[in-house]
Amino acid sequence: MELTNRPRRLRTSPVLRKMVRETRMDKSSLIYPMFVREGQNIKEEIPTMPGQYRYSLDRLPQALAEVADAGVPSVMLFGIPDHKDECGTGAWSEDGIIQRAFRLAKREVPDLYYIGDVCMCEYTSHGHCGILDGEYVDNDKTLEYLARIALSQVQAGADMVAPSDMMDGRVAAIREKLDENGYCTVPIMSYAAKYASSFYGPFRDAAGSAPAFGDRKSYQMDYHNRKEAVKEVFSDLDEGADIIMIKPALSYLDVIRDAAEQIDVPVAAYSVSGEYAMVKAAASLGYVDEESIICETATSIYRAGAGILLTYFAKELAKFMDQGR
Ligand code: PBG
Ligand code: ZN
Repeated sequence: MELTNRPRRLRTSPVLRKMVRETRMDKSSLIYPMFVREGQNIKEEIPTMPGQYRYSLDRLPQALAEVADAGVPSVMLFGIPDHKDECGTGAWSEDGIIQRAFRLAKREVPDLYYIGDVCMCEYTSHGHCGILDGEYVDNDKTLEYLARIALSQVQAGADMVAPSDMMDGRVAAIREKLDENGYCTVPIMSYAAKYASSFYGPFRDAAGSAPAFGDRKSYQMDYHNRKEAVKEVFSDLDEGADIIMIKPALSYLDVIRDAAEQIDVPVAAYSVSGEYAMVKAAASLGYVDEESIICETATSIYRAGAGILLTYFAKELAKFMDQGR
């Protein structure tokens, strides 16, 4: 048989297969999301996210040290307050759970790079991501609150802020507030294209942040839309976003690809709680092999064009990436 093209020639050995890889990954691109809560001596497993925990502050440094030891360079912190109110006061108060967490983390484990998720839903009694006007989230009123939250996180030590609320104009509002207060070098990673997704279910269990009524479809994106994501990305760039994020990841690889091709700032993807939960559930039943599924799904996200990956599998992936899997 005279075949000119034999693609299999490049698949004949592990060394060669790795040599010709198109997608190379490095643990320096990983961000690990973590949950901090009030209380003492608490490390409680999140039922719908086996292997992920809520930590009280006294248990946090140990957990952060494990992240650093695993070679993951950065964490994103989410706060779970004991008290919630209509306007999410706990989100920006100086002694709020997240502010105390950043101060402690920076002091105890200073080598990690700390990112603050900027939103209101964990802190509002109604569980929506902004200030309500009746049953509707009031966009423009919410902006001032978001800016205040971002500033308070940065003042507490956050190295970067990441607004996840999906209000229009929030990147500009946060940029202006940070600049006015002398934080013009603190970057903003915008959840630019964040879809209204059922994949956030386990996170909302973890953070107790499910909306008390309705849903988030009046502010998060409709998953039928692709071009709209490009519009969201460009408008966040205009407002001064330094990194843009697509979320969720696995069902949105086309959107990641669009962003990567059309813009020249770093593109992050957030592989969210539901993606984690599905892998964990299937693996625990023996239906799939956990390690290889983790590697394959993460690779697909980088292959789609992401340069940064937020994932609950960050510690495992750091190891697998070092092994060249
Ligand atoms: C807060 C926020 C959410 C997530 C990140 N920031 C939840 C939501 O929008 O309901 C989801 C993360 C995940 O599911 O892992 N707005
Ligand atoms: Zn929110």
